[in-house]
Amino acid sequence: MKGNHIGEVISTHTPELFKAAVEKAAALLKSGKVVALPTETVYGLAANAMDPIAVAKIYEIKGRPAHNPVIVHVCSREMAARCVREWPEAAERLALAFWPGPLTLVLPRSALVPDIVTAGGPTVGVRWPSHPFIQAVIAACDFPLAAPSANPSNELSPTNAQHVAQKLGSKIPLIVDGGQSQIGIESTVLDLSSGPARILRPGIIHEESLLAVLGPGGLARMPGETAPSPLRSPGLLRKHYAPKARVLIRNWTSEEDLASQLAAESFSPEEAYVIAHTHIPLRKDFCRVCVIPHDAEAYARAIYNELHRCDEEAAKLIVLEKVPDTSEWQGIADRLKRASADEE
Ligand code: TXA
Ligand code: MG
Repeated sequence: MKGNHIGEVISTHTPELFKAAVEKAAALLKSGKVVALPTETVYGLAANAMDPIAVAKIYEIKGRPAHNPVIVHVCSREMAARCVREWPEAAERLALAFWPGPLTLVLPRSALVPDIVTAGGPTVGVRWPSHPFIQAVIAACDFPLAAPSANPSNELSPTNAQHVAQKLGSKIPLIVDGGQSQIGIESTVLDLSSGPARILRPGIIHEESLLAVLGPGGLARMPGETAPSPLRSPGLLRKHYAPKARVLIRNWTSEEDLASQLAAESFSPEEAYVIAHTHIPLRKDFCRVCVIPHDAEAYARAIYNELHRCDEEAAKLIVLEKVPDTSEWQGIADRLKRASADEE
């Protein structure tokens, strides 16, 4: 029989493997361990949300600052309601419309939720993920799971088990392989804790979809449209979700145009890994050209994988073609902007 090797990656692609993996992950979680699990957005680093010692291990493994709260994952609206002090009508409507799915609701916390989960704050983020594996594990544990993305703090989120194994394999007993993440970027985080709902982190569930449920005027303005407000979500730090390379976001009309723009800024085009969706440079002037779909959902599914590949190949310069300025691209544009921000 196999022991618990550090960084063991187990599969779930047959009913037998799925069941065995649920049992193994649940047993580890019940004994206070941290395991990496698939979700539909990105892979999560999970622990029993009600056990502060287990949650502390997540912070240690990720090198996550103590002021950054973690999301609590549930497998029913009732379980979510137990984690919060109030379950407003807007939460009920949004949960009915989008759960299970890539939407995190920030609400006043219940006294049951330990301080370390909320970073000592008065609110907690809750989400019911749609990936069947994490749903089965939460049901088997019968407690909610605290889970940030399964990457070292400030690095790229993982969208497959290999990404997790490369970055955190030596630090955790188990990584469950649930396939490539279907959404590919992190959930939309929506603050419902005071006043009108406010998007703290845009995602695939975008402004228009939220407004369709909340009704006109149901959303406070997006970050960036107002004067600087206090830091409500530490994930809104300017540099985040970043690959190791220098990242530029540019528009170009042809490969000559791109090459001359880079040269004019004293970048060497031969070093550039270009990620393009509309104007695909064909000339062999660049180190590599990746073509990514011009469709927001397909783009989201593919982008982190491309950025991880650039990291693996020790790219020095990544040039991303700017994405459209429409609501369905907001979540992607946000991640690209943070990936390209200079160090603070
Ligand atoms: O899709 C996702 O949300 C993934 C998967 C694993 O569920 N999780 C994820 O977690 O992206 P993390 O910790 O990497 O990002 C959570 C974001 C952070 O920006 C955090 O600051 C914010 O949500 N957040 C969590 N709880 C919050 C709260 N109570 N108030 C404000 N922001 C909160
Ligand atoms: Mg994260």
